[in-house]
Amino acid sequence: MLIRPSDPLTSSETTPESMYLNRREFLAAAGILGAGLVAGAAPRPAGAQDPQAVGKPFGLQSDDKPTPWKDVTGYNNFYEFGTDKSDPAEYAKGFVPRPWTVQVDGLVAKSGQFQLEDFLKPSVVEDRIYRHRCVEAWSMVIPWRGIMLADVLKRAQPTPAAKYVEFTTLHDAKRMPGQRSGVLQWPYVEGLRLDEAMYPLVLLATGVYGRDLPNQNGAPLRLVVPWKYGFKGIKSIVRIRLVDKQPRNTWNLSAPQEYGFYSNVNPEVDHPRWTQAKERRIGEFARRPTLMFNGYKDQVASLYSGMDLRQNY
Ligand code: MTE
Repeated sequence: MLIRPSDPLTSSETTPESMYLNRREFLAAAGILGAGLVAGAAPRPAGAQDPQAVGKPFGLQSDDKPTPWKDVTGYNNFYEFGTDKSDPAEYAKGFVPRPWTVQVDGLVAKSGQFQLEDFLKPSVVEDRIYRHRCVEAWSMVIPWRGIMLADVLKRAQPTPAAKYVEFTTLHDAKRMPGQRSGVLQWPYVEGLRLDEAMYPLVLLATGVYGRDLPNQNGAPLRLVVPWKYGFKGIKSIVRIRLVDKQPRNTWNLSAPQEYGFYSNVNPEVDHPRWTQAKERRIGEFARRPTLMFNGYKDQVASLYSGMDLRQNY
């Protein structure tokens, strides 16, 4: 995904709060109320793989098949553990993602520091199968396990001044050897507009294939926003902060002419160095056409009505 200097991004518009969807209304509208949910299921310990426990597909096409475990967990981007696709699986082996503290703060009525278990406990753990599209024009289909980010945000009670959510990865070069290099600015940071963050498709994932997240996939907690390029899916999150200004995000800091804030999957807006019109599904030979918003257009297009998506890439 590397790198050249360039122009700063222009500012963007925000969507009114009235566009938030109520979770049950959304699930009912999407026709999946109850279908892909494992109400009250407790997170499974690593080692208890049970693909049968994984819920039904969510917004998939008929020819979308879950990508095999070995690719989901062996072909990764996680620069804290190296820049090759096979590096994270190898160099994150010794990473111990427990105990883990998550800080929720900024423009909220209820800030706090939580042990991971307490952070997760009040929420419903769900299994959802999503398309996963990397900006490098490869894709997968991943059975995630996680909780809805909206649930966490509602509990924190954002103040009226809160417009964006900023996420931060652990910064600890002793545990994450890639942070000893200057390949990116550390810690890795990401952001969403508050209404995007509240959208019920957005997960804080704790697992894949019914197991706890392997370290290389962002243990113990990572973001999943299925209509955006994969780099928005920040891994190993330690902080969730509500803010009033658009946060910077790591790939935008690194190469702003190539990576924007919105990063919605869009086959009509090419990356400056390659086309986004097609993608290589890992495990397939022929490339397939990329879908607008990664196939989630019906659900999320209204979040961006009136915005120029070429400008706001
Ligand atoms: N999060 C952190 N902290 N560090 C990273 O290097 N890489 C991003 C994103 N989250 C990255 C990260 C990129 S570029 C992609 S495509 C996805 O993670 C890859 O997720 P996966 O390895 O689970 O497929």
